[in-house]
Amino acid sequence: MINASLRIIDQLTTQPDRFHEALEGLTAQKKTLHPKFLYDQTGSELFEQITKLEEYYPTRTELSIMEESLDEMMRLIGTGSTIIEFGSGASRKIRLLLESGLISEYVPIDIAKSFLKESSEQLASDYPNVDITGIVADYTGELKLPQEILDPSKKKTVFFPGSTIGNFEKKEAESFLSTIANLLLPGDGLLIGVDTKKDPSVLHDAYNDRKGVTSRFNLNMLEHLNRELDADFNLDTFKHYAYYNAPMGRVEMHLVSMIEQTVTIGDETIPFREHETIHTENSYKYSIDEFKNLALRSGFLSEAIWTDDDQLFSIHYLKVE
Ligand code: AVI
Repeated sequence: MINASLRIIDQLTTQPDRFHEALEGLTAQKKTLHPKFLYDQTGSELFEQITKLEEYYPTRTELSIMEESLDEMMRLIGTGSTIIEFGSGASRKIRLLLESGLISEYVPIDIAKSFLKESSEQLASDYPNVDITGIVADYTGELKLPQEILDPSKKKTVFFPGSTIGNFEKKEAESFLSTIANLLLPGDGLLIGVDTKKDPSVLHDAYNDRKGVTSRFNLNMLEHLNRELDADFNLDTFKHYAYYNAPMGRVEMHLVSMIEQTVTIGDETIPFREHETIHTENSYKYSIDEFKNLALRSGFLSEAIWTDDDQLFSIHYLKVE
């Protein structure tokens, strides 16, 4: 049975200028590429494989915390409420919430239109009692939600799982949470998954898996630039390098040029020294108190926090003040 109220709203009016964004990062004194370049079709598939790796504890730990505390989470989210999810809506995690039967409306927001459409259609047929409005938008940019979704008589919860917040710089994370707080009304909530600080060797293994999937995920960024931005990176001359930077409280991913070389992108030439790196991702880890304070500075109050026995991962329910 297909849900009568499934709709997709496309808010992406202009295509982002990926070429100049990549060029700016590659010509900076310390070369960087924004982690969004990790997620083309192949990158998204590789990330999906990462989430199933033995060493990558976040996905299964977050899911087990949700399974364990679902009733309590649903009590805070409330009956008949709206869930707004930033990012993919295909995961087992959103299904857990929808299976409760207590959600009346689900609003997934994602930049990838075909993916959003497909997963919304699947969810609409699996949960025919839930109204689904998929919104195609870059949720890290300016976001306007349709007026009927902002209806003040409906309680709203933003769902942001997977510790994606860890891929934002700390200041950006704070302003992103403030944007969410401003979008919501007092009493509405944010259910957010946050990876915790832990033994660096556990973190090291999670980003340096034995099967080499994370290495392929990182190197695929160069393949992505070759394919879509007319670059000529030779993948055999770059190596995946990830380590936990303890003073900064983050895992850093880099691609190291193993030789001195030049690479072209469009008509531009980029010189690389031997062992020069491109910094491709930060994944910040937060202690429970650090994240609580960040949320407080952004206009939220901490209502509940759940972790697993080893405190490998945390889920925060934050309420708009
Ligand atoms: C999507 N994000 C939360 C992942 C992380 O752990 O920071 C991306 C990732 N990078 C390497 N492995 C997984």
